[in-house]
Amino acid sequence: MAGTLHILGVGPGDPELVTLRAARILGAAPVFAGFAKRGRPGHAFGIAAPHLNPAARELRFEYPYTTDLPVEDPRYPDAMAAFYDTSAATVAAELCEGRDVALLCEGDPFLYGSAMYLFDRLRGAHRVEVTPGITAMSGCWSRAGAPMVHGDDLLSVLPATLPAAALAEALGRCDAAVVMKLGRNLPKLRAVLDELGLTNRAIYAERGCMAGERILKLAERDNAPAPYFALVLIPGRRGVR
Ligand SMILES: C[S@@+](CC[C@H](N)C(=O)[O-])C[C@H]1O[C@@H](n2cnc3c(N)ncnc32)[C@H](O)[C@@H]1O
Repeated sequence: MAGTLHILGVGPGDPELVTLRAARILGAAPVFAGFAKRGRPGHAFGIAAPHLNPAARELRFEYPYTTDLPVEDPRYPDAMAAFYDTSAATVAAELCEGRDVALLCEGDPFLYGSAMYLFDRLRGAHRVEVTPGITAMSGCWSRAGAPMVHGDDLLSVLPATLPAAALAEALGRCDAAVVMKLGRNLPKLRAVLDELGLTNRAIYAERGCMAGERILKLAERDNAPAPYFALVLIPGRRGVR
């Protein structure tokens, strides 16, 4: 019997926000896998730790590049494609041996998740099941106490890596927004929000639902680069107190 690849959303950080289904699968899987930055423990591994089968074996896939090489660099796409090919082949070998593999993903796997690249490579030839997870944005807006959209409000989810003009255009067309992947893009995003008169509605959320959580008005946050686990919430007008 071939194994099943379980792609598991493990939520935004608090192990209590792992779903019952993901916890059940983690408790039984003989192999678990995940992506991590080189030399870092890997956030999803930490979230999953209390739920793992103690006898399970770890497969750790370390990205060749993260922020150290711009995505526009010609080396980037080839290196990442080769990395995902190798990772998929490693998982496929386990499945062919009849072992289930639990692939960990922060938040929900299908929202900017690296697990999608393995899903695309493996779903044709293997059994693949996806377990949804609580997203970082829903974890952050719950912790912020910020109701986001009411009635027929329009919500946009945007990466801060977009050019300023594209951010301004998208933000101008919605009632509420979540801006992810902040990093060095925070000053650019702030300038766009200032221009649109949205800064006073914006909430900055760093490490939501985990140790070191920091949630404050964006207007009170300086312009130093944001850490990886940070996003900006702009609640719709009816959510602003
Ligand atoms: C590659 S995306 C992954 C999103 C994830 N799959 C989800 O469903 O939320 C990574 C971005 O999610 C956001 N993020 C993830 N976890 C977070 C957290 N605990 N607090 C704040 N932002 C977080 C940050 O904007 C980060 O740059």
